[in-house]
Amino acid sequence: MSKENVGHYARILNDQEVEKLSKDKVVLSDFKQNKLEIEAKKNWDLFYKRNKTNFFKDRHWTKREFEELAYNVIQENDTKPNLLEIGCGVGNFIFPLISEGTAFFIHACDFSPRAIDLVKENELYNPDICNAFVCDVTKDILTEKITPDSVDVATMIFVLSAIHPDKMHFVLKNVFEVIRPGGMLLIRDYGLYDQAMLRFGPGHKLKENFYVRQDGTRAFYFSEEYLEKLITEAGFEVIVNKYVSRETINHKESICVPRVYIQGKFLKPKKVNKNEISEQENNFENVT
Ligand SMILES: C[S@@+](CC[C@H](N)C(=O)[O-])C[C@H]1O[C@@H](n2cnc3c(N)ncnc32)[C@H](O)[C@@H]1O
Repeated sequence: MSKENVGHYARILNDQEVEKLSKDKVVLSDFKQNKLEIEAKKNWDLFYKRNKTNFFKDRHWTKREFEELAYNVIQENDTKPNLLEIGCGVGNFIFPLISEGTAFFIHACDFSPRAIDLVKENELYNPDICNAFVCDVTKDILTEKITPDSVDVATMIFVLSAIHPDKMHFVLKNVFEVIRPGGMLLIRDYGLYDQAMLRFGPGHKLKENFYVRQDGTRAFYFSEEYLEKLITEAGFEVIVNKYVSRETINHKESICVPRVYIQGKFLKPKKVNKNEISEQENNFENVT
């Protein structure tokens, strides 16, 4: 790794950081990596056993960043638009929306049964406007749980990063099938060279840009290029795909922490109707 200008527009690394990353080459053994994959669900479930609802803060910024979430139009046939939150955890994304009065019917899934129990125990949970269910999106077929082509907006908030890179394509195809043509997938996740990535010590690296935390949960750090490739290979069109920089204060260590996130809006294109194509071809023939 050369020391010159390593990084991207959201974060240029200093010499020390470049050196640290370039030295951290050793990855965990295949045996340990397989064990982490097999135990992914267990490790997240234990995370919620330990932390209950106390770890993540409620995400009050989501309507500001994604205007699609402020959607308040009831559809022609009087049905509510559908939102699917994948990897909902204990509901830090969905409950701020619900408390502000969303027009969406919300489907929310997670592979941790404890997280789903905590969602259902929340006083704002109401089965008339929300359907929370256990689902491992690396294995379970979403169209068996939700009508195909029915979701207006799907969200993955710090979730794709928790999934093994080899399974990300399957997961995105799985999600693609339930989104309606013209619907959107919204993603916010960890960006390449986020401070949390630079803080991993030796023995935590699994693959390039993929690390394991002390508690066995994993985190991938996305470049714009990597996410774009994944997304387009799953059939989505990129509307927005950008790094977002934020500075947070670590009060314990009295330091300013440069966080890098990645944020994207991805469209499931409308299906091209074969009759429309032949009509267009006919029109073209008439003109020529
Ligand atoms: C960082 S938390 C984010 C929770 C929530 N989206 C939020 O905004 O607070 C990541 C979540 O993804 C879930 N998750 C990870 N892999 C999953 C999978 N294969 N299927 C379903 N959920 C998964 C975890 O259980 C965890 O709740």
